[in-house]
Amino acid sequence: MWKPPERIKYQTTVERWPTGEEAVGSRLYSQLSSPNLSLEQRTWVPAMVPWRASEEGDVTQDVIDWYARFAEGMPGAIVVEATGIRDIPSGPLLRISDERYVAGLRRLTDAVREASGGRTRLLIQLIDFLTIRRRPQPETFFNRFLKVTSTHRQRLGMERQDEQIVRQRLFSLSDSELEDVLSPRELESLRQGYRERVTDTHLPAISALPTTLPVLFAQAARRAQAAGFDGVELHYAHAYTMASFLSATNTRSDGYGGSREHRVRLPLEVYEAVRAAVGADYAVGCRFLSDEIIATGSDIDDACFFAKEFALAGMDFLSLSRGGKFDDAKQPRVGGAAYPYTGQSGYECMPAYLSDERGPWGRNSEPVAQIRAAVHSAGMSTPIISTGGIHSFDQAEALLCEDKADVVGFARQALADPDWFQKVRLGRGKEVLLCRYSNYCEGLDQKHKQVTCELWDRADLDSPDAVLATDGKRRLTAPHWSP
Ligand SMILES: Cc1cc2nc3c(=O)[nH]c(=O)nc-3n(C[C@H](O)[C@H](O)[C@H](O)COP(=O)(O)O)c2cc1C
Ligand code: SF4
Repeated sequence: MWKPPERIKYQTTVERWPTGEEAVGSRLYSQLSSPNLSLEQRTWVPAMVPWRASEEGDVTQDVIDWYARFAEGMPGAIVVEATGIRDIPSGPLLRISDERYVAGLRRLTDAVREASGGRTRLLIQLIDFLTIRRRPQPETFFNRFLKVTSTHRQRLGMERQDEQIVRQRLFSLSDSELEDVLSPRELESLRQGYRERVTDTHLPAISALPTTLPVLFAQAARRAQAAGFDGVELHYAHAYTMASFLSATNTRSDGYGGSREHRVRLPLEVYEAVRAAVGADYAVGCRFLSDEIIATGSDIDDACFFAKEFALAGMDFLSLSRGGKFDDAKQPRVGGAAYPYTGQSGYECMPAYLSDERGPWGRNSEPVAQIRAAVHSAGMSTPIISTGGIHSFDQAEALLCEDKADVVGFARQALADPDWFQKVRLGRGKEVLLCRYSNYCEGLDQKHKQVTCELWDRADLDSPDAVLATDGKRRLTAPHWSP
């Protein structure tokens, strides 16, 4: 992952934890009563992919154990990982793309309800993503993948040569010579691996996204409802299709790109289709970016505009993330795929302990406060979830008391210690395992390995309740804690 050049080392410490009495009387542990979304406390575990589904995208016992373990901590809500809405092979990523997935997802909602005693609301994040291929061997790229065009021939002065000879010539060129012959997109396919964009409207499937996606999202949402989820979160953040529609880099000329009004059109149409499918009294919200953190990307002004549009359209909550784009991803090794959390935008999404003078904590808090203010200025009070580097009670409580958020998201801190919510509520904050922001978990995610936390994955490996990862060295869930 990209690191800020300052490389200042930070160590997570918490000076003060509340007593049980203070916690119970706090904003953080107060209820959120919103028409379709009532939470027992204003805490939220945002989506985190743990790579535990089957190759076919089914819920496995490991998926159930993972979420049941979070539910033991009884946060206000848990959002199940990004779950695919298309019925296409996507490795061990959870899917909701067909009726056959509903029974497994029902087992998951039942398990979470049981483990939290019905206290935790469970939502599921619905995702669509476009094709991305691994970085090819140059030889394979020039022999098979590259479509030889008249432009290449012209630039090489090889108008009449046999195609195989043109390919061989291209393969023999140096990096800088290739820059004069290949288009920027072809160079990207060679250096990073081929990646589809929402602007590739010459491809029929991409051109048709405004027609196909509302139906796919709506069907997936209906399945989520049938499986017993309390709501759905539309994934409009990071590097995926819907975020790419919102992005300032979206220059589609069919009314779904260009101006902010056009970029937000499909996300709103997807929402309308989902709402029509699940009815008026079901929680539907989205996750989007407070800032894309890429040179030509959307910024906080765009995010304020989108937030108002989503709120006015009737969304039940808005959850804000930050960065996480392909645009500035590091070059993968040959045979590897680009990963959207390796550049500066990735750092802003999951800031780590090696940081700049601002440090890794709460970097999303002020932008989210601005977005919330924009929503309120439009006369709306849609609950806003603020996530990013939050690990202490005081941080979270301040966000709520200063009207900077309505609910606080704890992603890596909940992974580090799923009992944070219980421990703090009971006045036992000193027992919390504090996230070090080492991003060991994120490194596993990048390799599509079962995600665990370094603070507990080697603890009590012999205990009867420890289920081990496929590498045989790590336990898959945190050891149980009893108050
Ligand atoms: C292992 C891992 C997987 C993640 N998967 C998702 C995901 O599926 N969807 C999503 O919106 N964010 C995902 N995120 C981002 C988190 O939800 C969160 O926004 C980010 O970690 C910053 O919050 P934190 O500082 O509280 O960890 C993931 C993060 C981690 C560490
Ligand atoms: S591995 Fe654990 S301590 Fe490190 S960032 Fe992830 S959750 Fe935090």
